[in-house]
Amino acid sequence: MDARTLKIKAAAEALTYVKDGMRLGIGTGSTAEEFVRLLAAKVEAGLNVIGVPTSERTAALCRELGVKLTTLDETPQLDLTIDGADEVDADLSLIKGGGGALLREKIVAAASTRMIVIADESKLVQTLGAFPLPIEVNRFGLAATKLAIKRAASGLDLSGPITLRMTGAEPFVTDGGHLILDASFGRIPDTRALSNALHAIPGVVEHGLFLELARVAILAGADGIRTLTTKTER
Ligand code: A5P
Repeated sequence: MDARTLKIKAAAEALTYVKDGMRLGIGTGSTAEEFVRLLAAKVEAGLNVIGVPTSERTAALCRELGVKLTTLDETPQLDLTIDGADEVDADLSLIKGGGGALLREKIVAAASTRMIVIADESKLVQTLGAFPLPIEVNRFGLAATKLAIKRAASGLDLSGPITLRMTGAEPFVTDGGHLILDASFGRIPDTRALSNALHAIPGVVEHGLFLELARVAILAGADGIRTLTTKTER
């Protein structure tokens, strides 16, 4: 089964959690896009939902396919967010931000009663960190912020290249107008400690460790769908 088919299967399973009248957070990335396509077909058939997109890219796709949108200013509390992930561990801690939308994704997930992650099973890992951790930073003081990240990481015995994300010859710029540093630590055994250390650095806007946000992970593999839940969800 190819990767796209698996993403569609995970997205289709997630759609069964969507009920009429729900206020949704709508994720970013190739798996979330499959979800938007399936959701749009349901909307076309009469499902009434409203969504907050986690990126301009997702907003454009929703508009194109007729999924009604709102903002967190108009609708500050959401029922359910459905989004992809770059890595998922057994506790449903995540690395996100491979698509550069981590800040809005985290704000939207935190405003939701429930977050469901959809992915193909290759995203399930024992320890987070093989996927480079995206860290969204302010443009001002970039070199100083990078040095502070390096020092904070080193205090936690983490090391590895920290690189500025580029689009061609130019730095990649997020929807919020910030830059992204991708930190290749390899393994992040203590995700909470790293999260706290990064949040303590003034130039860091947000990072891609999503801890205690996802409550369900729907992982599609060749043998079918695996649904992982947190203790509170069971
Ligand atoms: C976007 O910023 C990311 O957090 C995505 O959710 C993540 O990169 C997963 O994307 P794919 O579904 O394309 O793998």
